[in-house]
Amino acid sequence: MSIHKKDVKRITTHVLRSMKEQGEKIAMLTAYDYSSAKILDEGGIDVLLVGDSASNVMAGHETTLPITLDQMIYHAQSVVRAVKRALIVVDLPFGSYQGNSMKALDSAIRIMKESGAHAVKLEGGEEIAESIKRILSAGVPVMGHLGLTPQSIYKFGTYTVRAKKEEEAARLKSDALLLQELGCFGLVLEKIPAHLATEVSQSIQIPTIGIGAGQGTNGQVLVTHDMLGITKEFKPRFLRRYVELFDVIKGATEDYIKDVKAGKFPNEKESY
Ligand code: KIV
Repeated sequence: MSIHKKDVKRITTHVLRSMKEQGEKIAMLTAYDYSSAKILDEGGIDVLLVGDSASNVMAGHETTLPITLDQMIYHAQSVVRAVKRALIVVDLPFGSYQGNSMKALDSAIRIMKESGAHAVKLEGGEEIAESIKRILSAGVPVMGHLGLTPQSIYKFGTYTVRAKKEEEAARLKSDALLLQELGCFGLVLEKIPAHLATEVSQSIQIPTIGIGAGQGTNGQVLVTHDMLGITKEFKPRFLRRYVELFDVIKGATEDYIKDVKAGKFPNEKESY
């Protein structure tokens, strides 16, 4: 039986687990504001991620590092107000959980209490196990994130494919198992070889969501601005654009300007 949008009123972490068990793929996108989240939710998206990619696509920063916990909460609050069906997951931003599990717990509790979101996502494996454990002990659902972890970009120095070498692949596999054992409800796998993502997805029971990780994961995620063609210059191989919104919006802006300059807007019907 399919769990497709008409059958389920609200997506929960349990629904995602059933989707994996029943072989139904999970569709996830990012959202940062009320109006976009409303459209994506009405479109039937399963999971909305209030990603720290807001730092890039909303604020114009080069990396995800500068965004703050307060800013993430602001974005999450806007998304929560719009959404009726999707599960809402919020990224814990850089500096709000690494190396200090008490701080991690405080950050996660702030997100849950102040935004009303349903879960948090953290980047990393064994090195953040204490933080994940503590957050889970408070009853907050946690999604993991392995492979390319953009908050560590200065450690790796490049956005290229991760875990191509056996040593890194072995570490990723053991981290995936660990995250499952700790109690994470799902796992994002970013920019790793497709065969590795498939192997990991088949070796654990929790759903995996891939981005640049091939077809073998239990779902896919994209940054909405990339999928909609708003971030025109960003063209990684894994990205499929479903519309060229940059050009559509630019064209509409040009038409509007022309009408205003020519005195054609507003017309009589648009006036009181
Ligand atoms: O912040 C984000 O948008 C993400 C996705 C790329 C998974 O973490």
